[in-house]
Amino acid sequence: MALYSEKVMDHFLNPRNVGVIEDANGIGEVGNAKCGDIMKMYLKIEDDIIQDVKFETFGCGSAIASSSMATELIKGKPVAQARELTNKAVAEALDGLPDYKMHCSVLAEEAIHSALEDYEKRKNNS
Ligand code: FES
Repeated sequence: MALYSEKVMDHFLNPRNVGVIEDANGIGEVGNAKCGDIMKMYLKIEDDIIQDVKFETFGCGSAIASSSMATELIKGKPVAQARELTNKAVAEALDGLPDYKMHCSVLAEEAIHSALEDYEKRKNNS
């Protein structure tokens, strides 16, 4: 069996939603100290809906595929639904990741949660 699913390869080679949102109202950046990979998520939220989401990932192929899939899973969704996104859901949507690569999907979950926290903070301060 191939190490990586076709979906992982597809999202790694053609990642969706790569880039920066200049007027993002939620930004989250997380890293994994062990492998050194870094992921940054930008959210544009209006009326409690994720209107747009983009990411920049400096990391392994699984981290790029996980970021790409995670953005696809929350785009156009209500904030409450995005908050419930788990790394398991990201890995499942990618048709699985090798065990030792599961932490890459955790990074995607953490990046989205961190961007959502930033959004809530900004909302409460405005
Ligand atoms: Fe660290 Fe993939 S090896 S995120």
